[in-house]
Amino acid sequence: MRRQLLAVSLAVVLSALLPAAAAPAPDRNLGVADCAGSTCHGSIRPFADRQIRQDEYFVWQRKDAHGSAWKTLFTERARRITGQLGWAAPHEAQGCLVCHAHVPPAEARGPRFQNEDGIACEACHGASERWIAEHVNSLKTPEEKRAHGMTATWDARVRGQLCTSCHLGDTSHPMTHAIMAAGHPPLLFELDTFTALMPPHWDVDADYRKRKPVADTASNWLEGQIAATDAWLARLESGALGHGLFPELALFDCDACHHSMNANRWHAGRAPGLSPGQVPLADQPLVLVQAWAGVMSPGLADVMTVQRERLYKQYETDASRLRAQAGELRGWLQREAWGRLRQGSPDAAQLRQVLRRVAQNAESAQGGDFYYAQQTAMAAQVLAAAIGERGGNAAALKGATDALYDSVKNRDRFQPEEYRGALGKLSAAVR
Ligand code: HEC
Ligand code: HEC
Ligand code: HEC
Ligand code: HEC
Repeated sequence: MRRQLLAVSLAVVLSALLPAAAAPAPDRNLGVADCAGSTCHGSIRPFADRQIRQDEYFVWQRKDAHGSAWKTLFTERARRITGQLGWAAPHEAQGCLVCHAHVPPAEARGPRFQNEDGIACEACHGASERWIAEHVNSLKTPEEKRAHGMTATWDARVRGQLCTSCHLGDTSHPMTHAIMAAGHPPLLFELDTFTALMPPHWDVDADYRKRKPVADTASNWLEGQIAATDAWLARLESGALGHGLFPELALFDCDACHHSMNANRWHAGRAPGLSPGQVPLADQPLVLVQAWAGVMSPGLADVMTVQRERLYKQYETDASRLRAQAGELRGWLQREAWGRLRQGSPDAAQLRQVLRRVAQNAESAQGGDFYYAQQTAMAAQVLAAAIGERGGNAAALKGATDALYDSVKNRDRFQPEEYRGALGKLSAAVR
């Protein structure tokens, strides 16, 4: 014991004596004004004969919700939310700014940078100090761009993490039950769908494909679910968001608490090993990834099942063990699972099997949970599109996937029976 103490105090003394390795200064964000010149990205119409459209600023400002995310903070609804929370005005509250703007630390702001720009170019493309001049002519390859500090938005894995950080929340962009209870809309995200909805300010044409890697629909879906699983486990592990008698409720299945008590909705398959009446964790993305693993890497899927059940076992012991198990699972997935899942590229028949598993999992969980139902419906749409891309018969699935989508369109009118009926049709169509 004493020796340990001695070692610790020696380390403290040493670290005080040695000069601290100077952390490299972060790249500075120069602000949207530096991107929006009319000969740069501020054209009103896309140029036909250029590699890029050059109307990116116009699209962002006029058609893209990110261009108005800052304005949202001045709406009545936003003020009501922060009012309920007892926070400062929305545009001054860090808990809102992290997602509705881009808030780098002071040392990473250039002279023209301003919060008012909202979620502007550098929020996604990275602080531009080291690439702004060069990217016009001399930075050709994706690797060169990345090396100069540009975020690899073209890489589905990077994009998945980037979008998920705000669209589902992560440890540095926390979406809490308190914010939602105060009136914030619940968050929902699927990478491929939301990329199409932005709408894109880039054209994936032959020239683009020559310059950049392009992920297909199926890998976009997988990367979105991987990013969601990782961010959720990281928040569960951090435990920083637990407070009072209850932990952070946003990490649990919303509809375990927020549903009508008329229907007999509870079902053992939903959370393996949990006894009736416990609040299931919000593990939907993990269940979806497992469907992919079940087809592409069955051995891995079996271990995932064991790991997931372990998480639930620790759940019934105490919070610190649940957190430790979340960390353990996250580390294992990073070491053993994600790399392997990224390797295989499923063909149309394999994607059909993934879709079948998605439908079967949802059916066996009885589909009481609305968010899980929404994720399942989006997965079905996206996977059906991916099947079409790979030469499979997507048209034959359209009736079933559309019916499923319709059944989850409106939360307040959600009928588990109707949803289950649609799931049954989908299962039959992919059998
Ligand atoms: C810095 C946080 C942040 C990042 C990063 C981010 N978003 Fe968003 N996104 C938001 C916010 C906040 C809104 C809502 C803005 C508003 O309406 O005020 C939004 C809105 C959207 C919408 C419109 C949603 C709707 O219901 O109309 C889409 C689509 C979208 N984002 C897609 C993406 C995609 C794709 C990515 C990754 C390439 C991404 N976002 C990255 C914060 C972010
Ligand atoms: C984890 C990131 C995150 C945080 C934190 C966050 N938001 Fe949002 N907010 C979003 C996203 C993403 C959307 C768009 C949701 C969608 O349409 O899918 C959104 C939507 C909204 C909307 C609805 C906009 C519309 O046009 O319908 C309001 C209002 C809003 N946020 C206000 C706030 C306020 C006020 C705070 C702080 C208390 C806050 N948000 C914190 C990510 C966040
Ligand atoms: C919400 C995230 C987000 C924001 C905000 C954003 N972009 Fe993008 N941008 C993307 C994604 C994703 C792509 C597609 C992947 C890629 O090519 O890097 C992209 C692609 C591009 C491209 C590449 C086109 C090509 O053909 O290679 C340009 C240029 C661009 N954006 C400019 C801008 C400008 C200028 C702004 C600000 C006015 C901006 N972007 C804001 C996410 C964003
Ligand atoms: C463990 C149970 C539990 C879970 C899980 C849970 N909530 Fe809640 N929620 C509550 C309670 C309790 C209240 C407070 C009700 C009151 O004040 O009457 C509440 C309040 C709310 C409110 C305010 C309106 C209302 O219905 O009272 C919203 C909105 C909300 N929660 C959304 C969510 C979302 C979205 C999720 C999932 C991300 C979620 N909740 C997860 C228990 C839960």
